[in-house]
Amino acid sequence: MDHFSYHDGVLHCESVDLPTLADQFGTPLYVYSKKTLLDHYDRFALAFAPLDAVICFSVKSCHNLSILRLLKECGAAFDVVSGGELKRTLEVDADPSRIVFAGVGKTDTEIRAALEVGIGWFNVESEAELDNVATIAAKLGKVARVALRVNPDVDPKTHVYTTTGKRETKFGVDLERARQVFKDFHSRPGLELCGIHMHIGSPVNTIEPYVASIGKGLTLIDELRGDGHRIKAINIGGGFGAHYDGGEAPPASAYAERIVPLLRGRGLTVLLEPGRSIAANAGVLLTRTLYTKASGDRQFIIVDAAITELIRPALYGSFHFAWPVEPKDGAIPPDRRADVHLAGSVLVDIVGPVCESGDFLAKDRWLPPVSRGDFVCIFSTGAYGFTMSSQYNSRPRAAEVLVDGGAARLIRRREKYDDLVTAERF
Ligand code: LLP
Repeated sequence: MDHFSYHDGVLHCESVDLPTLADQFGTPLYVYSKKTLLDHYDRFALAFAPLDAVICFSVKSCHNLSILRLLKECGAAFDVVSGGELKRTLEVDADPSRIVFAGVGKTDTEIRAALEVGIGWFNVESEAELDNVATIAAKLGKVARVALRVNPDVDPKTHVYTTTGKRETKFGVDLERARQVFKDFHSRPGLELCGIHMHIGSPVNTIEPYVASIGKGLTLIDELRGDGHRIKAINIGGGFGAHYDGGEAPPASAYAERIVPLLRGRGLTVLLEPGRSIAANAGVLLTRTLYTKASGDRQFIIVDAAITELIRPALYGSFHFAWPVEPKDGAIPPDRRADVHLAGSVLVDIVGPVCESGDFLAKDRWLPPVSRGDFVCIFSTGAYGFTMSSQYNSRPRAAEVLVDGGAARLIRRREKYDDLVTAERF
């Protein structure tokens, strides 16, 4: 699952102990394990190798340049959703022809920039956007290669905020309209409309919704081919699960076992856009206890990380396992599940310093006693952790560190107070 484990009562990332990292780089601190990241990528690439699939790492999940560079070196392509993410991929010399540009509201500036660098694919979400991409491309004398995002109306059985494959969401074009869209746009100058894209939600811990959506996508492709369109590619999106509460996510091989036979031999380039399944378990958030207090009948551990570093619990009610880095009396958790409850534990909420009652990282957890100064680790935060962080309450963003065996390297310096105000000085 990952390379974070307790040795002699102290939590380590690979062979580096976390208190040493806290001393060296301060807290709150994002710590990534290179071995875990690459293991997850490799498992994915291996599972989908029979399709010769293009694995486009979803930059929104974890966008640090050093992480992107590592994945690029392993052969990853990229999925970006903004000019800013495109900039990050170009910064690590990614091949633009292996980048897909997704997103429901691309601006003209972003479309132009993507065309100018020779982006591989646009995932286009509406007729209006197709019209715009075609107009801009024709003006630049370029041809945009496009996959139409279709909405398969499949329930991914995940959080409502991250459900995208249902008809009532803002994403994609209804399946029934797709044939008409291809008819209307297939000969439009500036466009090569030759693929379909689907992304049903995230995280999707069951495989059936993929089978259902791919089935619908393939039926559409057969119809489109019957209509005389040349369809080269299917992009099945991301959303594959990660381990937050024990080992709940199916392994990449289990997804592939069902998906590969559906897509093999179809004469299609297959693209995938995994983010979380590669990055989530590769990162943790290391935080220091500032105070403990009782309020009413509740016990609070107030730490130096907050919703500014990790908004997922507040936004989605997400579960992240949390545990002291050096638990007292050697209280090492047998596994990382919500129901861990060792003798001598205390029922606590782990909260941050931000001025909102919604500022919590963990609620109702049985933890061994924690005192001021103790480090607490919030697990499985490598995806949508740092990338969703903010400077709310004028809190400088955390540092990020990458561990490789026994070595740790700073990959993003901690922001300073000056970083908070420089863009406002005129
Ligand atoms: N492709 C598309 C079109 C997407 O919208 C997404 C995620 C992905 C790929 C990557 O999904 P992944 O493999 O990482 O699950 N902030 C939320 C997740 C939002 C996902 C948005 N789209 C969270 O913290 O759970």
